[in-house]
Amino acid sequence: MMWRIHLHLLVALVQVLRIGALTNPDDSAALNALRDQWNNVPPNWSGADSCGDGWEGITCTEDRVVSITLASINLSGGLTSDILGLSELQILDLSYNKELTGPLPSSLENLKNLTSLMLVGCGFSGPIPPSIGSLQKLVYLSLNSNNFIGDIPPTIGYLSRLLWLDIADNMITGTIPVSNGSTPGLDMLVHTKHFHFGNNKLSGEIPPQLFSSNSSLIHLLLENNRLTGSIPSTLALTTSLEVVRLDRNSLGGSVPDNLNNLANVQTLFLSNNQLTGPLPDLSGMVVLNAVDLSNNSFDATDIPPWFSSLPSLMTLIMDNTRIQGQIPISMFSIPQLQTISLKNNRVNGTLNIGSNYSSQLQLIDLRNNFVDAFTLRPGYSIQIILLGNPVCDEGGTETYCTTTRQPSAPYSTPTENCLPYSCSWAQISSPKCKCAYPYSGEMVFRGPSFYGFGNTSLYELLYKKLMLTFGTEGLPVDSVSLSNPTKTIDDYLMLNLQVFPSNQEYFNRTGISRIGFALSNQTFKPPHGFGPFYFTANKYEYFAGLTTGSHNSSSNIIIIAAAVGGSVLFFLLLLAGIYAFFQKSRAEKAAKKSDPFASWDPNTDSGGVPQIKGAKYFSFEELKKCTNNFSETNDIGTGGYGKVYRGTLPHGQLVAVKRARQGSMQGGLEFKTEIELLSRVHHKNVVSLVGFCFEQGEQLLVYEYISNGSLKESLSGKTGIRLDWMRRLRIALGAARGLQYLHDLANPPIIHRDIKSNNILLDERMNAKVADFGLSKPMSDPEKGHVSTQVKGTMGYLDPEYYMTQQLTEKSDVYSFGVLLLELVTARTPIEKGKYIVREVKQGKDKTKDMYNLHGLLDPIIALSMPPRSLEMFVDLALRCVHEAGDSRPPMSEVVKEMEHVMEISGLNPNIESTSSSTSYEGTSRGYDHPYSNESLFSFSAGNLPSKLEPK
Ligand SMILES: *[C@@H]1O[C@H](CO)[C@@H](O)[C@H](O)[C@H]1NC(C)=O
Ligand SMILES: *[C@@H]1O[C@H](CO)[C@@H](O)[C@H](O)[C@H]1NC(C)=O
Repeated sequence: MMWRIHLHLLVALVQVLRIGALTNPDDSAALNALRDQWNNVPPNWSGADSCGDGWEGITCTEDRVVSITLASINLSGGLTSDILGLSELQILDLSYNKELTGPLPSSLENLKNLTSLMLVGCGFSGPIPPSIGSLQKLVYLSLNSNNFIGDIPPTIGYLSRLLWLDIADNMITGTIPVSNGSTPGLDMLVHTKHFHFGNNKLSGEIPPQLFSSNSSLIHLLLENNRLTGSIPSTLALTTSLEVVRLDRNSLGGSVPDNLNNLANVQTLFLSNNQLTGPLPDLSGMVVLNAVDLSNNSFDATDIPPWFSSLPSLMTLIMDNTRIQGQIPISMFSIPQLQTISLKNNRVNGTLNIGSNYSSQLQLIDLRNNFVDAFTLRPGYSIQIILLGNPVCDEGGTETYCTTTRQPSAPYSTPTENCLPYSCSWAQISSPKCKCAYPYSGEMVFRGPSFYGFGNTSLYELLYKKLMLTFGTEGLPVDSVSLSNPTKTIDDYLMLNLQVFPSNQEYFNRTGISRIGFALSNQTFKPPHGFGPFYFTANKYEYFAGLTTGSHNSSSNIIIIAAAVGGSVLFFLLLLAGIYAFFQKSRAEKAAKKSDPFASWDPNTDSGGVPQIKGAKYFSFEELKKCTNNFSETNDIGTGGYGKVYRGTLPHGQLVAVKRARQGSMQGGLEFKTEIELLSRVHHKNVVSLVGFCFEQGEQLLVYEYISNGSLKESLSGKTGIRLDWMRRLRIALGAARGLQYLHDLANPPIIHRDIKSNNILLDERMNAKVADFGLSKPMSDPEKGHVSTQVKGTMGYLDPEYYMTQQLTEKSDVYSFGVLLLELVTARTPIEKGKYIVREVKQGKDKTKDMYNLHGLLDPIIALSMPPRSLEMFVDLALRCVHEAGDSRPPMSEVVKEMEHVMEISGLNPNIESTSSSTSYEGTSRGYDHPYSNESLFSFSAGNLPSKLEPK
């Protein structure tokens, strides 16, 4: 350690002492001035010779600075006219530094060599300076996601080489400028392929002049502005167009006929305007994937022939457009068709999907129409909504007569044949199961052509393309993780992106800035169908571990050393020693600051620094904010320990926040122990802990939010989710896998102690997740399998052997699981009207009879749909689990295998995830008891601590 620092110092010294600085004096002055204004510049920005000393983020050709790429390094300050000194600058990328604020310098003329200006996702404000039009070499101009105001400067029309113009997501007003004799305008930009102007306050008409047959535009994004007038017919001259978004404006008049000439358009959104006249004919758009014409005032029209003639159609959305008639059966056989939404129209007759329908079909939403007949064939995995149609008038209970919750598609890049690693605080396990601090942010796709966000192969494609780009660019990336695809209210597809560093746990500034650049300047090109995207980065705070202090102290030392240059090595060593000492104490301070438990327990013998793996520390303020100040409306459950609130984290993740009430709080140590236990658990069938808070007399646990409540609620009919037999089999298998994980794979292994239908939660896709570890016990190794303890659990599920002997083994969980299986077939609580379900089934069973003669006990909902053999095997397995002697019960690994077998017998593939739950809702209900309200979560009591973790 010492020696490395010595070397470092010597090298620095040699660099400083080199005779004659390399950097051009103008460039040098400009950079030094910027350095003095900015906070958080890279630590090696010291000395006067930026090119010679290799300042991070600066690239030089000979003595001239040609590129500055400082994306995502938490720079703060402004962009003053000092930048203008860099007359040879070609690339300036300061994207994703949210604390770079203030206006741009008004006279940019001197940056005449600039080809790329990227200021994505910063905090810049004020108008875009008209002098930008003098940057004649500009190819990429990205000013999106700032706070710019004022008009689009017409002088941008002078940028004849411009390929990419992105000013979206600002507060830009005025009209879209076009040339007029003496004044320039955007119509002059015939080489520009991208006009991204969405989410501003542009007004006036879309100027007809903007479009011509010379234009090279492929993406025209004007969504969510205040544009008026009609759609100019000249638009059809720009046949290069691929994505056209004019939605969410105030456009009127009729859609020009010739729009049909745009044969390259893949995505066309004209929704949410005041368009009138006949419905446009789109039959010429032969590659059209996605179209949304909703919420306009078109003339009432019969369903047009192009509904079934567009060969590439994936998504058709035409809510509230006054179309009428019967949907032709041929429409459903368009090979890539995924989504049809025709809400609030006059679709009538019989809905006939035929047998030759698209294998990709996911949703047909025809609510509020006049459909009077529909035959649901068995085997449909399509979500069909006919609520508000005559076919559902008689209070139909069919699943298609109900609405559903917005189906979301939980997705996260899977791990590569490895088990996620339990990482220490703030680190995250990568898809390759390495712990690291990822660079993260949101990728937003502005015109996706698909709406079935549940097709994971799309995200795999995206993953591969990202990795390919990072690889080609030689970026230090180990892997990336994509998760939580959601559709935003602007119809964008938003995904969380985490980029993991290769070979070390964190990125350095250069790595981050280069990755940021690949995303800000569109080096990365998304696969077909995703359309244009932008990226916004989260703050990255983990640069190179502990050397993140201000750069000044170390550079001062170097300057002192330089002053005495040539003096004895002894002095240097002494200096280095002092430096090392200060570094170390600073490192310790930094470590203390970032450790949420540092101030917890002054009792040093409480086990030292706690290991909180994978769980994030939240401040009380953060949780207060994400639950809307613990508002009533977010309250999803109450129990003895306190309340549970639904919350939304800044990047959109839904969470359940358990807040302990005063008086039910645990000691710091117990709380810490519990978090340690919970945070070590990672499995898709186990509810995972997202984080925690311990502050100001508050204890909170933050869990992933599981939207469909508990199995118990669904079995009792409270949630309106219909559990058919196939779904019950999947739930049983999922729960078995979760429990097997706890027993066999968790480290240390965990006995749950309270398996019951209350504690099995169901996510959006009806995957079972084992919840609530309030009573859980890690099995300490020496006595694995035998933990003597005070008996806890829930009557009806409790293993009688454990009850009598007080010897807890994992077989006690197996017993409870057997009871759960019986609950699944009967939909009865274990003890109902004094009858114990285990005894009832054992006594009622007659192996010689069909369905073991259990008809009377079965839940009527499944009784009809169930293959008898499947039921018999299921009951056999359940009864083995509830065997009186623990030793005779199968281990969970065997239960999992048996369940898989039952599924195969029933014609299901145990390894395919269930389809979206939404097809089976019978109605949504609100306000039911949420499973997080379970009492036991905060119930670790001191006497109940796992022996290994007990205070000495
Ligand atoms: C459906 O609506 C169309 C147009 O309003 C009408 O001509 C047709 O008779 C209707 N068909 C049925 C089966 O009601
Ligand atoms: C998912 O998307 C891919 C790529 O677009 C496509 O080839 C595949 O058929 C889709 N699968 C399903 C089940 O929709």
